[in-house]
Amino acid sequence: MSDSSDRRRFLEGSIKGSAAFIAFVTTLPAVGFLLRPIIARSEKKRLKVIFKSPDDANASNYVVARYEGLEDTAPGIFIKKTPEGKHVGFSATCTHAGCAVDWRQEENQFYCPCHQGKFDANGKNIAGPPPRPLDMLNLQIVDGQLFVEETEA
Ligand code: FES
Repeated sequence: MSDSSDRRRFLEGSIKGSAAFIAFVTTLPAVGFLLRPIIARSEKKRLKVIFKSPDDANASNYVVARYEGLEDTAPGIFIKKTPEGKHVGFSATCTHAGCAVDWRQEENQFYCPCHQGKFDANGKNIAGPPPRPLDMLNLQIVDGQLFVEETEA
């Protein structure tokens, strides 16, 4: 083989290698963009629900609970267990201006003391200024413990 033939082969290999490297580097962000929803889903946070009493986990009427790690006085969440055995929960934060709502069992509705907002037992805004229903919680049972999975912002 001649020197020029070797040089030509070396240059061709270098060009092909450079082209492959450039193609790899330019497609990497696109691959990351496509995989982002899958990666983000796996990064969702699960917050453990803490009841005042363990029996509250089986309450058929709404009881106040909170997330693990928060103070007892932090805005809570309301949880109940349906006759079918499914847990249902709502954030206690009013959708008007963020006050904490109360559950009024005798009226079968949530009540916000700040501006007299009302929500029915399904969290739907039915009176006063709240512009939308209470935030429904995505509840999951993992190893016998109740967790709230944070929704995407
Ligand atoms: S903050 Fe609840 S009604 Fe205004």
